[in-house]
Amino acid sequence: KTRVGILTAGGDSPGLNAAIRGFGKAAISYHGMELIGFRDGITGLAHDRTIVLDSRALSGILTAGGTILGTSRDKPHKMVIDGQAQDMVPTIVENYEKNHLSALVCIGGGGTAKNAYRLAQAGLNVLHLPKTIDNDIAHTDTSFGFSTALGIATDAIDRLHSTAHSHHRVIVVEIMGHKAGWLALGSGIAGGADVILIPEIPYSVEAVAESILARAAGGHSFSVVAIAEGARNIQDSADLEAAELLVKSARGPEAKAAAKTHRKNVESGHRGNAYRLADKLEELTGLESRVTVLGYVQRGGTPDAADRMLGTLLGSAGADLVEQGVSGVTVASHGQSAVPVPLEEVAGNLKTVPLDHPWLLAARQVGTGLGD
Ligand code: F6P
Repeated sequence: KTRVGILTAGGDSPGLNAAIRGFGKAAISYHGMELIGFRDGITGLAHDRTIVLDSRALSGILTAGGTILGTSRDKPHKMVIDGQAQDMVPTIVENYEKNHLSALVCIGGGGTAKNAYRLAQAGLNVLHLPKTIDNDIAHTDTSFGFSTALGIATDAIDRLHSTAHSHHRVIVVEIMGHKAGWLALGSGIAGGADVILIPEIPYSVEAVAESILARAAGGHSFSVVAIAEGARNIQDSADLEAAELLVKSARGPEAKAAAKTHRKNVESGHRGNAYRLADKLEELTGLESRVTVLGYVQRGGTPDAADRMLGTLLGSAGADLVEQGVSGVTVASHGQSAVPVPLEEVAGNLKTVPLDHPWLLAARQVGTGLGD
């Protein structure tokens, strides 16, 4: 029998269990394969912590949030063990062989795509299924988790509207999305946020204040500002860009490490951005301002119908690809179809919001401020 391993890695996201079940049921019942799970992402693979996934284990998990397998952000080539970074790729290859696997399915986001590519280069037959609430994986229309998170964030913006309105306040709501603004932009449009700030468009605090004052002049003495966690004002954005350039141009391991530490410091200086923005807006507009950080509530809980469908579709398509002997790919969503895309095209590529994207155009046309 063909034996396949499966794991979930990176931040959890609604729809992971639907994908495990979609792959598993198709693999076991339709193709007659055997399936084992690795616990807690790449960690379980490196330490050979397995769990048998039979039909019974896959039953009743479609609607459950999180992942029955557990997850972690560990990397195969530098896993921290007893405080030391170790290259666990050779051990992982041994474990793959020891378990007599024909393929390994890695469900995760951009980081997982990179790790999956690394393992493929080490000779494993790897398939990647794209999940993330950030929707920033290259070459896939959507990743599962995004739709549910979009709904949660939209619902939160709706609720914040009525309290902002009642108190004549500005509410700055921070939405997840470190490098890409899909979630903030989508929920901001759906929830009718008055201003939407995303990492792709460095904002001017003055421009945001102007949008709020223009609303106030029109009789709306409250505003909701949706800000992606990775959105930065023009100065902070330029500082980060310079730090990133330094990392790219640094030669030699010491210079590289120093440049990376510098970048990390610059980034941590930008934490609490939403709070700084709210303080400044209060000063510039005279309106009382408050902050709500949505945080992990966006990743938790039961997946919506779209994420259950996408997880099932990509999972079962993944089982077909294993059956056909295809590996080294991301099982991407293109329209209604699941399409294999070479991992080397996906790994290390980030799908950010293009500045001419129809969502941005629509936001502008309905009068949403974008901070520029
Ligand atoms: O990748 C999904 C995500 O939720 C991002 O939006 C966020 O920046 C990050 O994970 C948070 O990561 P962690 O779970 O490690 O705190």
